Amino acid sequence: MEKPHALVVPYPAQGHVIPFMELSHCLMDHGFKITFVNTEFNHARVVAALPKMGRVQEQIRLVSIPDGMAPGEDRNDLGKQCASILRVMPHGLEALIRKINESDHDKISCIIADGTMGWAVEVAVKMGIRAAAVWTVTVSLCALLFHIPKLIEDGIIDTDGFPTTQQMIKLSPTMPQFNTTQLVWLFVGDRDAQRSLFRYLHECTQAAKLANWLLCNSFYEIEPSACELVPNIRLIGPLLAGRRLGRLEGNFWPEDPTCLSWLDEQPPRSVVYIAFGSFTIFNRRQFHELALGLELSNRSFLWVVRPDLTDGPSDAYPDGFEARVAGRGRIVGWSPQQKVLAHPSISCFLTHCGWNSTMEGMSNGVPFLCWPYFGDQLQNQIYISDVWKVGLHLKHDSSGIIPREEIKGKLDELLGDEGIRARSLELKQTARKNVAEGGSSFKNFNDFIEAIKLEK
Ligand code: UDX
Repeated sequence: MEKPHALVVPYPAQGHVIPFMELSHCLMDHGFKITFVNTEFNHARVVAALPKMGRVQEQIRLVSIPDGMAPGEDRNDLGKQCASILRVMPHGLEALIRKINESDHDKISCIIADGTMGWAVEVAVKMGIRAAAVWTVTVSLCALLFHIPKLIEDGIIDTDGFPTTQQMIKLSPTMPQFNTTQLVWLFVGDRDAQRSLFRYLHECTQAAKLANWLLCNSFYEIEPSACELVPNIRLIGPLLAGRRLGRLEGNFWPEDPTCLSWLDEQPPRSVVYIAFGSFTIFNRRQFHELALGLELSNRSFLWVVRPDLTDGPSDAYPDGFEARVAGRGRIVGWSPQQKVLAHPSISCFLTHCGWNSTMEGMSNGVPFLCWPYFGDQLQNQIYISDVWKVGLHLKHDSSGIIPREEIKGKLDELLGDEGIRARSLELKQTARKNVAEGGSSFKNFNDFIEAIKLEK
């Protein structure tokens, strides 16, 4: 019998490619053949970051299409990137599918598209292929995107996504409130970029609604009220399948696995893990304050300093810092994060609260020290510290900087809080139960697999 063949289309960013790779592994475990579509730019990064030896590549076929931007253009300019994606990628995807279907004996049987690549669902509908739209963010954020027409109708935002007045809003009485200045599309560039991102997200959400299945990498217990706002969405998280030995992970930077053997030598729950995902950028002053905060804390730490983490040279540490912390601090360019968070030596996670990092920390029972950078991370932080109460958040001083004393003080407070630790472990159990046999996310995923295999 022919294998079902899924074409997987993530949004072109690290925080989307990784969970879509995990989803692909789950689909492969259920007998699917996978063709994974990156932009040409990201495809080159993923291939360059693959481990050179010692791993067996699995049968995920990596392919690419252009994103319409020039080689040197800034992919972190989301306004520009989104406009370019909409202009160029739908044609590219359609052409790719035609080519695969002409040359392959197992034709594309379904498209698994990122909810933020909703245009790919439109391509699927046009070509008569069934599609699932999958969000790798919170259901709360999905609810916000689904409610854009209502926000416009109620006069809370205008048709370009700008708030008519600054006010606190709640999507439902039992969800945390947020300020209209914190809408996700308002965190990028100038007004043109914000308008472009808003239109992109709105258009993609409307298109994604045409999908046969709506899925989200979350689980019911952590945001039940949001689930009521998007009733037809199925929760399948936490997706943590890909990080098994020999599996393709979709990293944009090569992992430094040596930090795992270093962790092996550290006492249980003694190491602070610090990582800010793939997008966060620090100015030099804040970067120094963070380094000096870690030094002042007098604790062991594992710190991910991406090559592009600062807006200056990446080796711009405070004078003598590296030598002074050499015995207890380890710095890497990119870590095997899920394995790090699962390591018994980790005591807590200083994080930007990206949704993947949040799910990964929570699935390992690790308490959070929150330092959100932009977009959905502010809402995620509110859930972590105020709703689930499994972490604390850092406060800026009057000059807009998080000072070293704040970092040291909050680390002490977090690691001395037994309530936070107990709740983190409870949340871990709930997360794990969801994806274990008989759990709600497990069941939702299996129902989806059954349905997608049956319906031709
Ligand atoms: C961004 C947003 O912050 C996030 O909320 C949204 O859902 C996706 O886009 P990003 O900044 O990349 O994502 O953060 P995050 O969502 O946490 O994803 C980062 C991924 O990279 C995680 O899967 C993490 O495990 C991985 N990672 C990070 C590593 O593997 N090694 C590292 O050193 C750092």
